[in-house]
Amino acid sequence: MSGPRRGRLVTIEGGEGAGKTTLQGGLERLARSGGREVVTCREPGGTHLGERLREALLGHDAEPPDRVAELLVFTAARAQLVSEVVRPALDRGAIVICDRYIDSTIAYQHHGRGIARADVDAANAVATGGLLPDLTVLLDLPPYEGLRRVGRVGDYLEREPLDFHRRVRAGYLAEAEQHPARWLVLDAVQPPEALAEAAWERIAALPAA
Ligand code: TYD
Repeated sequence: MSGPRRGRLVTIEGGEGAGKTTLQGGLERLARSGGREVVTCREPGGTHLGERLREALLGHDAEPPDRVAELLVFTAARAQLVSEVVRPALDRGAIVICDRYIDSTIAYQHHGRGIARADVDAANAVATGGLLPDLTVLLDLPPYEGLRRVGRVGDYLEREPLDFHRRVRAGYLAEAEQHPARWLVLDAVQPPEALAEAAWERIAALPAA
C-alpha cells in the first residue's frame, strides 16, 4: 500500500450459509447512518471481469477446476477488484465492506485443498499488493448447519464433502486465533441484528481514518 490509507477495509468471512450477505447489509446501513461513504463488494466478482470469472468458475454448468487454476482465478478476480474498486474507494476515505477476501483463499485453497501456504500467500500478495483488512469478521458456524441453511446443491464447492468444510472452518478459526487484533469471531447462530451490532462496535473502535 503506498501512502497512508484514508478509508477502512472490513472483510466478512465464513463458510457456506453463514449469513455474510445479511451482515454486510446490516453493516452498510449502520455505516451510512454515520454519514460515511460505504462501498460494498463480493468475491469473486464486483467488477465486469470478476463477475465473468465468477460465472466461469461457479456457474451451474462449471466443472470443478484444477486446484491451482482455482487459486489463480480467485486471485485474478481479487486483483481486478482491488485495483478497480477497493483502492480508489479507500483513497476517497470510504468504508469498504467486502464479502470474502484473502482469508477465503487461505481457508479454502490452503486449509481446504492443501495448497502450500507459501503459494497461497504469494498469490494473495500479488493480487492485493499487500493490502490487508483493518478488520475481518468471521461468522462461525458448524458446516452441517451452514449447508442445511443453504438448502440447495449449488456450485461444486457446496458439493465438497463435509470434511472439506470442516477443514475450512478449522482454518478460519486458526487464522483468527493467530491474529486477534485483526479478527472478530462471531457465533453465526445469533440473530442478524445482534451480529451487526457486535461487528459495528469493533468497526467504530477502529483508529480514526
Ligand atoms: P460465495 O458466493 O461467497 O459463496 P456463499 O455466499 O454461497 O458462501 O463464494 C463462492 C465460493 O467460492 C464459496 O464456496 C467460497 C469459494 N471461495 C474460495 O474457495 N476461495 C476464494 O478465494 C473465494 C473468494 C471464494
